[in-house]
Amino acid sequence: MADKQFSVLPQHLGIIMDGNGRWAKQRSLVRSEGHKQGSETFRKIGEYAGNLGIRYITFYAFSTENWNRPEAEVNAIMQLFDSFLTEAIDRLDENIEKGIRLHFLGDKSGLSDELQNLMDYVEEQTKNCTKVHLNLAINYGGRQEILQAVKTIAQKVQNGEISVDEISEQMLSDALYTSGQPDPDLIIRPSGELRLSNFLTYQSAYSEFWFSDVLWPDFTEEHLNQALADFEKRHRRFGGI
Ligand code: IPE
Ligand code: IPE
Ligand code: MG
Repeated sequence: MADKQFSVLPQHLGIIMDGNGRWAKQRSLVRSEGHKQGSETFRKIGEYAGNLGIRYITFYAFSTENWNRPEAEVNAIMQLFDSFLTEAIDRLDENIEKGIRLHFLGDKSGLSDELQNLMDYVEEQTKNCTKVHLNLAINYGGRQEILQAVKTIAQKVQNGEISVDEISEQMLSDALYTSGQPDPDLIIRPSGELRLSNFLTYQSAYSEFWFSDVLWPDFTEEHLNQALADFEKRHRRFGGI
């Protein structure tokens, strides 16, 4: 597909990949088939967004609340994540050539040792890439993220490294998983749900939102074009006039 031109692009785009289960149900398939198809959409849209020139892209893949799902479904999602990581490692040279830096947002310690090792390896290998920052939020929760940031800062106070008065918004922002990255300008949520579900809680303070009834596995480049065309027309005020 030819890359479209937009006069304004979000610097950071967030996407809540929702609707896999309903997509499978519509087709009388097991939910894991929906996740499998959703992971294909993730690859396609990630590549397209990167080619458009969006520098930071965060995909929400698995929340801290998603552990409440049946074990078989959780295992299927983790298996797909494992395949993604293995593929990323197989294509490491290609990814580095394209300047894609992979980064994982969330509490890694809740994932298997094998996954943690693969995640650390991919992050380390791509750390000098600067063209596209591809974040995958996995075992991610906005509240958990803020909580761990508060604990990190509190520890510094307790160690006598900083005083309470020195705690700033910048310090809090730097203690989040997205440290050093701009806040998301645009957050897309398909599947008809009109909520954040614990996604980028702190960072989304001034994000624009784009919702659609399309289910994530059916999401196409054209849907992203529509969202970006709408975003172009938004008047962001940040409290000003
Ligand atoms: C999103 O699709 C994937 C994850 C949350 C892991 P869902 O599995 O939530 O799909 P629906 O909302 O049940 O259709
Ligand atoms: C949000 O979707 C999490 C991800 C897409 C990873 P959910 O399907 O878990 O959200 P709720 O439960 O409908 O709010
Ligand atoms: Mg859902």
